[in-house]
Amino acid sequence: MNFFIDTANVEEIRQGLALGMVDGVTTNPSLIAKEKKPFDEVVSNILELVSGPVSLEVISLDTESMVSEGKKLASLSDNVVVKIPLTLDGLRATKELAHAGIAVNQTLVFSPLQALLAAKAGAAYVSPFVGRLDDISHHGLALVEQILAIYANYMFETKVIVASIRHPLHVLDSAMLGAHIATIPFKVIEQLAKHPLTDKGIDMFLADWKNVPASKKK
Ligand code: E4P
Repeated sequence: MNFFIDTANVEEIRQGLALGMVDGVTTNPSLIAKEKKPFDEVVSNILELVSGPVSLEVISLDTESMVSEGKKLASLSDNVVVKIPLTLDGLRATKELAHAGIAVNQTLVFSPLQALLAAKAGAAYVSPFVGRLDDISHHGLALVEQILAIYANYMFETKVIVASIRHPLHVLDSAMLGAHIATIPFKVIEQLAKHPLTDKGIDMFLADWKNVPASKKK
């Protein structure tokens, strides 16, 4: 299972890479805005650090502008994946970009049929947003299960990136379902490592260590 980090913050990316938990990065316009720096600056800093896939989202809404924006983004580096929202214009843009050999991450996916269309259009990745579905009392992970079943039925090569992850159980359930990738906020990556019994165990070992007699050798 691949872990992407869902952030545009270079420090978080650096820390995630140091842990060995970052196989790629996903950004979106809201995450870029949080950095309070120009888009080009944020993106070039990320691309300097990361060799895995880096998703950069278009902000155009019509097919022609999405395609030209997507081509510009893809020209920044070989590992750029163009993020395109799932609209009719977005599907047309995905088809054109995929045809030109550019990897697309079809984003803002909330139904299994949208995911089926993304795969048929040639998207390399599809991003179902589980947290935002949970927020409105729908089962986000049920969507992931449906998408994986449909893709397996027809042997689509589109990879599923579980997105809009809010907590460790989203990652656990994604792994149990066999999702290809989870894109995870840094805070949740840290939470995955934490267990109170690990901390308690370390305290107990260190307390017992004080009772080990000192060596007699000089
Ligand atoms: C996915 O690629 C998006 O950037 C992200 O996961 C959205 O998450 P949110 O619902 O927490 O904004």
